[in-house]
Amino acid sequence: MNTFQIEIVVVVLIAIVVFISGYWLNKLGKPYNTIVLTAHKLISFGISVYIVIMCYQLNKTETFASIEYGLFISMLIVFISAIASGGFLSSNNQIPSFVQIIHRVSSIASVIFTGILIYLLRARL
Ligand code: HEM
Repeated sequence: MNTFQIEIVVVVLIAIVVFISGYWLNKLGKPYNTIVLTAHKLISFGISVYIVIMCYQLNKTETFASIEYGLFISMLIVFISAIASGGFLSSNNQIPSFVQIIHRVSSIASVIFTGILIYLLRARL
């Protein structure tokens, strides 16, 4: 396996940990378990920043095609929505159910956009 393939395997494994911890939080309910919430928060934030920096650095050396640029911006928007809605959800107060829907939709969208973008960029990463 080359460095890029190893990097992708690690990103996929970390994404699985984020999803498992998210569904676990949902199952445990409020007040959330501090260890699971902290792990979910830090790991998801870290991996989002890592993916954005990885793609941003590539864009500096090789200009993105418009579809790739569109996907990059969409990925950025859904990461921000997931992180912001996650921040609201982690409060122990009653949160409107649409925030949970935003968190769910943006999480799934982030996997879809990131997956397609990495697939398109695979030869250049
Ligand atoms: C890209 C970043 C993130 C992804 C992909 C993600 C993914 C998920 C997923 C798949 C779930 C389960 C959803 C459900 O069953 O309704 C979840 C739940 C949750 N996440 Fe995240 N998450 C992210 C960031 C965050 C952040 C930054 C926080 C906190 C600051 C957070 C806090 C929560 C909480 C509190 C729940 C439980 C919500 C509930 O009770 O349904 N998440 N997350």
